[in-house]
Amino acid sequence: MERSRHFETQHRLLLLETLYDAGLSLGAMPDEDALAEDVLGRVVGVLDASRGYLATFVDGGARRAEARVGFPKRPPEAVVAGDEFLREVLGSEGAVVRDRARLLGRPVASAVGVRIMGGGRPIGVLALADKEVRRGGGSAVFDEEDRRFLVSLAGLCGMAIENRRHLERLTRERERLEEENRRLLDETGRAAAGRLFVGDSPAARRVLDLVSRVAPSKISVLITGESGTGKELVARMIHARSDRIEKPFVAINCAALPESLLESELFGIERGVATGVEARAGRFEAAQGGTLFLDEIGDMPLALQSKLLRVLQEREIERVGGRRRVPIDVRVLAATHARLGERIADGEFREDLYYRLRVVEISLPPLRDRREDIPRLVRYFLERFAARERRDAPALDRDAYAALLSHDFPGNIRELENLLEGAAALSQGGTIRREDLQWLPRGPVRIEASAGGEEGEVPDLRALEDRHIQRVLRMAGGNKSRAARLLGISRRTLYRKSAVVGHKVTAT
Ligand SMILES: Nc1ncnc2c1ncn2[C@@H]1O[C@H](COP(=O)(O)OP(=O)(O)OP(=O)(O)O)[C@@H](O)[C@H]1O
Ligand SMILES: [Mg+2]
Repeated sequence: MERSRHFETQHRLLLLETLYDAGLSLGAMPDEDALAEDVLGRVVGVLDASRGYLATFVDGGARRAEARVGFPKRPPEAVVAGDEFLREVLGSEGAVVRDRARLLGRPVASAVGVRIMGGGRPIGVLALADKEVRRGGGSAVFDEEDRRFLVSLAGLCGMAIENRRHLERLTRERERLEEENRRLLDETGRAAAGRLFVGDSPAARRVLDLVSRVAPSKISVLITGESGTGKELVARMIHARSDRIEKPFVAINCAALPESLLESELFGIERGVATGVEARAGRFEAAQGGTLFLDEIGDMPLALQSKLLRVLQEREIERVGGRRRVPIDVRVLAATHARLGERIADGEFREDLYYRLRVVEISLPPLRDRREDIPRLVRYFLERFAARERRDAPALDRDAYAALLSHDFPGNIRELENLLEGAAALSQGGTIRREDLQWLPRGPVRIEASAGGEEGEVPDLRALEDRHIQRVLRMAGGNKSRAARLLGISRRTLYRKSAVVGHKVTAT
């Protein structure tokens, strides 16, 4: 008896702690999916449920984020929308409890669910099923306390989601304003995107010359070059120097979206194509009268390539799921870092589309092939960062300069820009030193022989990686999950790697 009382008190404490902790951490989740995972992970753990499901919905009712425990497969939209238990939960104010119910097509012994409210409407649902029997006693039903707990947690969760969505709306609005601001800058005769195309090498002059020759016409231009060579900058310049300057410049990255999404992003979608889908114009329509920039065109799936070709030939689009044909007047610019010739030979890129897009090709040389532009670019970037911080631009000392001039810059101008931004922030007394150029490889360095290895000159990749991990861990305030997300590796991998780092830290 005593034991079970003790156990109950402990359990109650755990519930309260979980709520407290959720209140603190939910607001900091990077996105709604992470939030869903986090919340579901917590409840399933503290309420001993064997299964759990959390979904959030967009305004039209389609699923937005989802987390599952004990449901290995993602249930189809129709199963979620038609689930009787979930529907009942969505329609009820408090928590709903059912014995011998069905959840997402599975029979369950017991189930409990609450809806998640945001802005006065249900925006999500949280359901748990099959409570496990605890060692200390207690029966396997979801009791009053569990329900109260779920209602509180759903309240916190709803607030966090509402805040997130609000923030997203603000971010989108800000991006729109920034875009508009850039356009205004273009119009006042400044360089494209408020940025200058810097460079005086023969290669850079050739690019500028081509840009000014192709800009006034409506022809399609294919811009090629390694990552960070300025493909998007060139596209914006072409737009800014054309007579379409008053009209929108719309960019879309063809590599960033899965095929079906990319299609509706490009061409728009009609209402009701899937549950909850509202009619939406695509980027072609958004760019009406202006320029559409198809970034990473080499990654566009074949089926979409055919559709794009048809649109370019007929100058009309049809929204996904629609019948109506919309005439469009859009200039198309495309960019790729891939060798399209090879893709064509491999059957991954349509040759006819290639010729359609590549009426003129502007190929941007890698920075290592025009090192003479580096000093100018360095000055330009340092002055820009300084103006932003309202400071004087720092200068590079001789070592730092030499290091920059001899570096290969696989990431091209973007790499140079980022490198200098970091260096400018680290510099002291108006001078950038060699050590302020943080991620520039230091060439071969001597390292201690490790377990059975030999001493010698090896590129110290390992040390670079360790330093990077340590820096990211510091940035994440020591939070390993967040650090792992920033690094794009799993938490397990990070634990493994940071164990090594931790060892080094204490050893030195
Ligand atoms: N000639 C240049 N002068 C000044 N800044 C430049 C120049 N070329 C590129 N930049 C700057 O370098 C950065 C990278 O350029 P951009 O995004 O246009 O490259 P990209 O080729 O599209 O790269 P990715 O393939 O990675 O998308 C941008 O901040 C851009 O403003
Ligand atoms: Mg780009």
